[in-house]
Amino acid sequence: MKVILYMAISVNGMIAKSDDNTSWITPEEWRSYSLFVRKAGNLIVGRRTYEILTKQPEFAEFKDIKLVVVSKKQDINLVSRKHLIAESPKKALTFLKNFKRIVVAGGGTLNNSFLEENLIDEIYLDVEPIIITTGIPLFKGKEFVKNLKFINQQKISENEIQLHYTIVK
Ligand SMILES: NC(=O)c1ccc[n+]([C@@H]2O[C@H](COP(=O)([O-])OP(=O)(O)OC[C@H]3O[C@@H](n4cnc5c(N)ncnc54)[C@H](OP(=O)(O)O)[C@@H]3O)[C@@H](O)[C@H]2O)c1
Repeated sequence: MKVILYMAISVNGMIAKSDDNTSWITPEEWRSYSLFVRKAGNLIVGRRTYEILTKQPEFAEFKDIKLVVVSKKQDINLVSRKHLIAESPKKALTFLKNFKRIVVAGGGTLNNSFLEENLIDEIYLDVEPIIITTGIPLFKGKEFVKNLKFINQQKISENEIQLHYTIVK
């Protein structure tokens, strides 16, 4: 089982504007992300991301995905009976233990929780050609440092590059 973080970021590492706006993320990036998630067959997101993502029309593409939302709350309004709530990152992984690749995809608070517990093996970052000075960072929460090893890069459109790293454990 390999746990992979997949995110779209601004050049300075923001994943959304302060008001949660992500309209700067291109359709090409969404296609790449959506394909990645559908190939893996699963997705783990934080409670705030779940509430935002499930309202987007593109979310219909994930109807067959096994989705786990991480939250301490038990009264979340789940939009599908297939979706599960996990009280912690480790619990979310146990729900998906039969998958070869597990995709974690935000937001910043959830990403930090997973990384802090050393649960991420690889990171894919789709870098958008934009600087967002104040926003929600890729990792938000407790302070720590992790070293990465570069694996690969690829252009996903004229203006966007995808970076692929492993986490040094
Ligand atoms: N650019 C991208 O690729 C991308 C991808 C995804 C999301 N986003 C953006 O990211 C933003 C949301 O990020 P965010 O940091 O505000 O919120 P988030 O990480 O999506 O959700 C935070 C919530 O997740 C739960 N959580 C996180 N760590 C936990 C832990 N260790 N144990 C139990 N529960 C835990 C908590 O839920 P409870 O409070 O319910 O306990 C916490 O309040 C949105 O604007 C979204 O659009 C961007």
